[in-house]
Amino acid sequence: MKPTLSLPPQVAWASGALSGAPLIRKITTLGDLAGVFADEAAFRHGDPSLVVYSVEMFDTPAGEGELFTGVTHLNPGCLGEEYFMTRGHFHARREQGEVYFGLRGEGLLLLQNEQGGTRLEQVFPGSVHRIAGYIAHRLINTGTDVLSALAVWPSVAGHDYAALAGGFAQRVTKGNLRLMAKEVQNG
Ligand code: PA5
Ligand code: NI
Repeated sequence: MKPTLSLPPQVAWASGALSGAPLIRKITTLGDLAGVFADEAAFRHGDPSLVVYSVEMFDTPAGEGELFTGVTHLNPGCLGEEYFMTRGHFHARREQGEVYFGLRGEGLLLLQNEQGGTRLEQVFPGSVHRIAGYIAHRLINTGTDVLSALAVWPSVAGHDYAALAGGFAQRVTKGNLRLMAKEVQNG
């Protein structure tokens, strides 16, 4: 049998740009994020057409055992005191996990369990984040550059946004980030 050799799709590590295969793109604007940020007055004054983040993923088959691969590009910025962030979600199939890899920029990954317990992981180029099943996840851009993170997740996982419609139990603002940075310094 003749061996076959093919060129796989690619990710440019520095920018997170995907290429070499059909892509799906989804843009999320400030206007799509009603109720997500704490400062409702700042939200009303914000530009609803402002792009907060975009997700680019390979258009690959879905089904049991299949994996999706995509990159989130989260713009820098704040709404009021709160840093730009993704909506965040549990997986519709709660037991399904995911892995994130930091590619560009700096930020945080907010993780929350079903009891409402939260923790934050620093995201930076080269960081690896194992998101177990039953854990909600949200990216937060605390830097001045775009925060880009690669994600790989089971195509059957799905997204459950409704379970967190009331918000995550922790918010990251300029004020509490300064406090957290001090705590890290003081050990
Ligand atoms: O699969 C994921 O967890 C990511 O690709 C997210 O969907 C992406 O970061 C966008 O976030 P959200 O789906 O919460 O809007
Ligand atoms: Ni997810």
